[in-house]
Amino acid sequence: MNTPTTTLYDRLGRRDGIARITRALIQNHLANPLVSNRYAQIQDMDRLERNVIDFFCAGAGGPEAYAGKDMLATHRGMNISEQEFVAVIDDAMAALVSCGIEPPVRNEVLAILWSMKGEVIRV
Ligand code: HEM
Repeated sequence: MNTPTTTLYDRLGRRDGIARITRALIQNHLANPLVSNRYAQIQDMDRLERNVIDFFCAGAGGPEAYAGKDMLATHRGMNISEQEFVAVIDDAMAALVSCGIEPPVRNEVLAILWSMKGEVIRV
């Protein structure tokens, strides 16, 4: 059996790796015509980047505390569509590829992101 003995946090390269992935993710969003409008108007990008890094670190089993809002509160009232949700996941998968994350680890992240769809789409 190929049972992982590390956490997902380790497999993503700990905080440094997750910070790189998050920066690639945000760049992909800004370049993606399906969602760029959502992100182009954000005032404090540094704050968003920090919160997203902490969110991914904490969710992947790292020691970081996440100080942002929960997913429902964050996305409530935005009227996010299924198409936008898929576009954001595509951006995340592309960020993992560009950061050299292997397919089995990408699939772990995909499953986690997909599981949040009820807290993001049209909430
Ligand atoms: C599983 C999918 C998603 C996850 C895990 C996720 C995660 C997050 C996190 C952690 C934040 C930061 C919250 C904070 O700073 O308090 C955030 C903010 C945001 N998300 Fe998402 N998100 C997802 C999908 C989406 C989608 C599909 C859209 C729309 C295209 C979207 C649009 C936004 C926007 C515009 C913000 C900034 C809110 C603001 O600071 O005003 N998200 N998201």
